[in-house]
Amino acid sequence: MARSHTIPIPLSRLLTAVEWRALCSSIAAATKTHLAVVDRDGWQLGGPVGPTAERREITIDGERIGTLLAEGDAAIEALSLTETVLGAVIRQAQLRLDAVAEHERQMATTIGELNDKRERLDRAVHRLEELDRLKSNFLANMSHELRTPLTSIIGYGEMLAEGLAGPLSLDQRDYVQTILGKADQLLGLISAVLDASSIESGQLSLDRMPVMLTQLVRSEVSSFVTAAQKRGIQIAVEAPVDGMILGDRKKLRQVVSCLLSNAVKFTPDSGRVDVTVRGGTLIPGDPSSPPAVHLVVTDSGIGISRQLVPQIFEPFYQVDSSSTRAFGGSGVGLTLVKAYVEAHGGSIWVDSDPGAGATFLAAFPTAQVAGR
Ligand SMILES: Nc1ncnc2c1ncn2[C@@H]1O[C@H](COP(=O)(O)OP(=O)(O)OP(=O)(O)O)[C@@H](O)[C@H]1O
Ligand SMILES: [Mg+2]
Repeated sequence: MARSHTIPIPLSRLLTAVEWRALCSSIAAATKTHLAVVDRDGWQLGGPVGPTAERREITIDGERIGTLLAEGDAAIEALSLTETVLGAVIRQAQLRLDAVAEHERQMATTIGELNDKRERLDRAVHRLEELDRLKSNFLANMSHELRTPLTSIIGYGEMLAEGLAGPLSLDQRDYVQTILGKADQLLGLISAVLDASSIESGQLSLDRMPVMLTQLVRSEVSSFVTAAQKRGIQIAVEAPVDGMILGDRKKLRQVVSCLLSNAVKFTPDSGRVDVTVRGGTLIPGDPSSPPAVHLVVTDSGIGISRQLVPQIFEPFYQVDSSSTRAFGGSGVGLTLVKAYVEAHGGSIWVDSDPGAGATFLAAFPTAQVAGR
C-alpha cells in the first residue's frame, strides 16, 4: 500500500504530556542523564539541559517535527533510546493514518459508484415513466379507435337481427346473435381497457350526484339473477339502509356489477352469493374513522389465497391464467373496482381463503362526509 499521508503533527502531539513525562523520566533515570524534548513550535518538556547538550533532530519523511536534547555521560545512548521508542510510536501512528486513508479512498470509490448507479437509475425511471405515458396514450387511442368500428358492427348486426335487411333463417338468426354477443363482449373489454388506461394516466373523473346504493344494487342484482339461477346459484340481498352516497352512478354500477360478476363466476353451481348494503365506518372495525356505507359481496366460491389478494387488483392479473382456465374475462374488473372506489374516497377490503369463498367489502364515505 503506497503511503499517501505523513504524520503532519509536531512532537508535542505525538504523545500526551503525561506520556512524554513518563518516557523522558524513565529514560533519564535509566541512563542517568537529563533529557528534554523541544518541538518545532517551541513547546518544551523535561530538562534541565545546557547549551552543550547533545541534540537529535526527529524527522518524518524529511520534515523536522522536533528535537531531543540530552546531557550526561550516556547522553548519546539516551537519545538513541528515545528515538527508538519514538520510531515505534510514529510507525503505529503512520499505520493508523494509512488505514484511515485507505478507508477514505474506498468510501470515495463507493460513493462514486453509488452516484453512478443513482444517475443510471434516475435515467431508467425517467425512461420508464415516458414509456408508461406512451403506453397509456397508445391504449387510450387504440381503445377509442377500436370502439368506433365496433359500434358500427353492433349497429348493423342489430339491424340484421331485427330483419331490416330481410327475413333470416333460424341458423342465420343464431349466427347473428352470436356475433352480437361477442361484439358486446369485445366492447366491454375495450371500455374496460380504456377506463384502466385513463386511470393509469390520472384522467379518471367522477360525475357526482346523490346515489342510493341499495336501489342501485337491487337493480344490478336483478340482471344477474336469471343467469345465476340457471346454475342453481342463489343471490340474496340484505339492505337495512338506503346507502346514500355522493357518487358517480355509472361507475358505482360498474363496481357492483364487477363484484357480482366475480362472485357468480367464481362460485360453483348450487352455491350462494350474498349482497349487503349497511352502515359502517370508512375503516371497517375502527369506530373512530368517519361513517361510511358498506357494500359487501360474499360468495361461497373457490376463494383466493391471502398472499394473492394484493395482486388481483393489478391490471390483467388472474389467479388462473392458463389457456385451459374455466373462467372468462380479462382481469381488469377489480382494477377498475379499486380505482373507482378509491376515487370516491373509499377503500376496498377482501377476506378470503382458498375453497372457503370470498368477501369483498367496499366502504364509501356517506353523503354528508363526502360532501363536506
Ligand atoms: N369472488 C372471487 N372469488 C375467487 N377469485 C376471485 C374472485 N374475484 C376475483 N377473483 C380472482 O381475481 C382475478 C381478477 O379479477 P378481475 O375481476 O379483475 O378479473 P376477471 O374477473 O378475471 O376478468 P374481468 O373482470 O376483466 O372480466 C380473477 O381472475 C380471479 O382469479
Ligand atoms: Mg371480474
